[in-house]
Amino acid sequence: MRLPEHGSNPQHLFKALNFSTPNDIVDFSVNVNPFGMPKSIEQQWANFLGKISDYPDPHSTVLKTKLAKREAINVDEILIGNGAAELIFILAQYLRKENILIVDPTFSEYRTACNTYGCQIESVPLTEENGWQLDVEQIIENLTGKAAVFICNPNNPTGVRYDRNALLTIVDAAHKLNVLIIVDEAFYDFCVDPYTLVPHMKTYPNLIILRSFTKMFAIAGIRLGWLAANPQLISELSALKPHWSVNAIAEKIGLLCLDEEVFVQQTAQQIKMERQRMMTQVTALDFIVSNSKTNYYLLRDKKKRNLEPLLRFLLEEGITARHTENFINLSGNYLRFAVRTARENNRLITALKRWRQACSSS
Ligand SMILES: Cc1ncc(COP(=O)(O)O)c(C=O)c1O
Repeated sequence: MRLPEHGSNPQHLFKALNFSTPNDIVDFSVNVNPFGMPKSIEQQWANFLGKISDYPDPHSTVLKTKLAKREAINVDEILIGNGAAELIFILAQYLRKENILIVDPTFSEYRTACNTYGCQIESVPLTEENGWQLDVEQIIENLTGKAAVFICNPNNPTGVRYDRNALLTIVDAAHKLNVLIIVDEAFYDFCVDPYTLVPHMKTYPNLIILRSFTKMFAIAGIRLGWLAANPQLISELSALKPHWSVNAIAEKIGLLCLDEEVFVQQTAQQIKMERQRMMTQVTALDFIVSNSKTNYYLLRDKKKRNLEPLLRFLLEEGITARHTENFINLSGNYLRFAVRTARENNRLITALKRWRQACSSS
């Protein structure tokens, strides 16, 4: 594909579109905490270096034990991964050659991973008219004959959080049809008043939950995520995981992150305030935005269909947005923006105002 497959690493987007990369970039294409990592990680960093010479614990036992306690589940219901991305590939390997359902547009790695392992993929669309919410009936109709369904909640790229009862209705139907349901909660931490399906694993052994440490704690370069599922499934998935894929520093950092409840709550509140402020300002400029409950939102221009010209205009301003060329059903007609700091968000607003002026004078 011509454009990069994911956000972040903005230099690749500049290169793909033949722009020289400026020194001063604000990267709205990446969805990690714009306020940075918790101070405790910086403070402990020198101590982590002692961990490098020995092999990491292949089972991340200490981290799993602390996580199990926090989530009120058992240690044998957790698998730690080298980012949620590794766990998605392990799931796809487990589901090799099976029929899979994906609710689109959503995180592209589900499809990439399932394609890698020869799965047959069917897609159920989300629509802007329906507020990007789940079409429960259509999803249930399409569950028959599938081994698994991937649902991301809150969804990437819309930021929309699904109605809890709608999601549980699908989990229940999937259970009756013997279909696994993978609910990716990678952006759970950014919701004020979040809800998780982890407690429902007791009732539904077909439920698999995915989480990531990398976004809220701004440690995307370290790679750390986890998966919760019934013990039998965890044991089968563990067998597919490369033995030492989670490094020792990542495990230590994960332990610190689990103590950062206040940091998480404060970040979620700050993001909410900035998101609401941005939504008001962006809407006033005649753009349509998704009703996000997390740290990014989808933007459409009422006046233009394909948004590559806006993507290019913003690059000239040193701003990278996430293109949507490789999101099913979006085809470049939207851009996704992270909610960043007030100063950075203001820079985006200024650029969008300039874009409006440029459009009206051309
Ligand atoms: C919905 C979703 N799930 C999982 C991941 C992967 O997360 P990690 O950095 O933990 O591999 C991403 C990364 O962007 C994501 O957007």
